Amino acid sequence: MKFMNRREFIHDSAALSALLAGLNQMPVQGKEKAKAVKKSDVNDQLRIAVVGVNGRGKEHVSGFAGRPDCVVATICDADEAVIGEAMRIAEKKQHKTPKFEQDIRKVMEDKTIDIVSIATPNHWHALAAIWAMQAGKDVYVEKPVSHNISEGRRIVETARMLNRICQTGTQIRSSTGVREAMDFLHSGELGKVQVSRGLCYKTRNSIGKVDGPQEPPKTMNYDLWCGPAPFKPPHRKTEHGTVHYDWHWFWDYGNGDLGNQGIHQMDVARWGLGKNELAKSVISVGGRFGYVDDGQTANTQICVFDYGDSELIFEVRGLKTDPYKNARVGNVFHCAEGYLVLGSYEGAIAFDPNGQVIKKFGGGGDHFSNFLQAVRSRKMEDLHADILEGHLSSALCHLGNISYRLGKPQPFSQKSHAFGDDKEAYETLARMEQHLKTNSVPLDQTSYQVGRKLAFDPKSERLVHDKEADAMLTREYRKGFEIS
Ligand SMILES: NC(=O)c1ccc[n+]([C@@H]2O[C@H](COP(=O)([O-])OP(=O)(O)OC[C@H]3O[C@@H](n4cnc5c(N)ncnc54)[C@H](O)[C@@H]3O)[C@@H](O)[C@H]2O)c1
Repeated sequence: MKFMNRREFIHDSAALSALLAGLNQMPVQGKEKAKAVKKSDVNDQLRIAVVGVNGRGKEHVSGFAGRPDCVVATICDADEAVIGEAMRIAEKKQHKTPKFEQDIRKVMEDKTIDIVSIATPNHWHALAAIWAMQAGKDVYVEKPVSHNISEGRRIVETARMLNRICQTGTQIRSSTGVREAMDFLHSGELGKVQVSRGLCYKTRNSIGKVDGPQEPPKTMNYDLWCGPAPFKPPHRKTEHGTVHYDWHWFWDYGNGDLGNQGIHQMDVARWGLGKNELAKSVISVGGRFGYVDDGQTANTQICVFDYGDSELIFEVRGLKTDPYKNARVGNVFHCAEGYLVLGSYEGAIAFDPNGQVIKKFGGGGDHFSNFLQAVRSRKMEDLHADILEGHLSSALCHLGNISYRLGKPQPFSQKSHAFGDDKEAYETLARMEQHLKTNSVPLDQTSYQVGRKLAFDPKSERLVHDKEADAMLTREYRKGFEIS
C-alpha cells in the first residue's frame, strides 16, 4: 500500500472538492488544469507563488524564502518593472531564483504550486484567492481580504467548500503580546467592554492632481492590473513608471485608510469585543480635508457600529495629530472596570479606572509560520487569522464606507444630530473637529459628509430595506474577472 505524501493529499482532496463545486469562476485555462490536478512526486517542500511584489509582497517573499519547509517558486506581478528587489530577496535567502510570471492566470494553472500568497491591490484579493483555491491551492491573502462585502463572503464559502487553508494577512493576530491581551480582556478582569475603539492616526499627504487621464507604464499589463475593476486609464501620478500604492484612495480599487491601515485595528477592535458577526447598524461621518487632490476616499472619518450591548467606534485621521491615550495606530477598549490600550503591533497595557497600570503585555510572532503549520495540519482552526475573521473585519470597513458614500454634506457650523443620543460618538466628533481646527481647517466655512445610518442584518449580511446600499455590497465585475 502506498501512502500519499503531503502534496498528493492536498491536491487530491482539493481536486475532488473543486470538481464538486462546479468551478464556475475559474478562467477557462484554469478550469481545465484544475480538473487535471494529479499526484505529484516531488519533494515535500511547499512551493509558493507570491503575487504582487511592489510593496508588501516583498515581505511575503522574505517571510517564506529561506525556510527548510518551503520555497518561493514563482514571483508574479502585472508590472515587470517592480520585481527586481523581490527576486534579490528570494535569491539571497533561498539560493534559488524564482520563476517570473506576469499573468496571474498562469500561476493558477501551474500544478506544481501549492500556495498562492496575494499582495495585490484590494480589488484583486477575492478573485485571486477564489481562483487559487479552485485550482487546489492554499492561500495567504492580504487585508482587506475583499473590496466589497459580498465577495468577502464568497472567499469564506470557497475555502469551506473546497477544504482550503486561507489565512488573512492581519499579522497582529500572531503577536503573542496581543493574543495574551485579548485573553485578558475576554477573561473579564476589566469588566465588560463597553466601547471598543479603533484608531488609525497615520499621516497621509496629498497625492496631488493630474491633468486628466494618464498613460499606464509600458512595463505593466494594465488590463491585468485592472482585473475585476473598470478598465479606465489611471487618474493619478504615473511618473517614475509607477501607478502603485495611491490606488488606495480611489473607490474602484481601494477602500481608503479605513480599509488600508485601519482594517488591522478594526480587526483587533472586533476581536476584543468578542463579536463574530457584523453589527446591527452603522453610521460614518468625515471628509477629505486639508488639501485638494485627486484622491476620492476620506482622510478623516468616524464610524460608529452598534452591537446592541456594546459599540465599536473607529477613527481615521490622515492629518497630523496627537495620540489618543498614547495610541496613534492602535486600540482602546473602554471597560466597566478599567481600560486596555494597544499602541503597537506587539504591546498592550491594561489600566484601572484611575489610570494606574495593572498589567503589561508584549511579544511578537510569525504569521507566515502559523499559516504554514496550518497548511501541514490541514486544520483551519490552527490559523490565527482564518479567512472568516478577515471577511468580518474587512466587511466592517466596507459597511462604514457604504454609509459614508451615501451621505450628504453638512456644514460644521450646524449642530450634529447624526448619532442620536450616543454621547461617546459626539465626544469623538468633538475631538475630530478640534483636530481639524489644529490643522487650520476653517470649520466655519467647511462641510463634512454625514453618512446614511444603515440598518444591517448580520445573519443574511444584507442591508435592511435599503436597495441603494444593498447594491454597494457588490460591484460590476469586468468580463473574464467575474465573481458571481
Ligand atoms: N499586512 C500588512 O501589514 C500590509 C502592509 C502593506 C500592505 N498590505 C496590503 O498588501 C496589498 C498590497 O499593498 P502594496 O502597498 O504592496 O501595494 P502596491 O501597489 O505597492 O503593490 C501591489 C502590486 O501588485 C501588483 N499587481 C496588481 N495586479 C496584479 C495582478 N493581477 N497580478 C499580479 N500582480 C498584480 C502591482 O503591479 C503591484 O506591483 C494591499 O492590499 C495592502 O492593503 C498589507
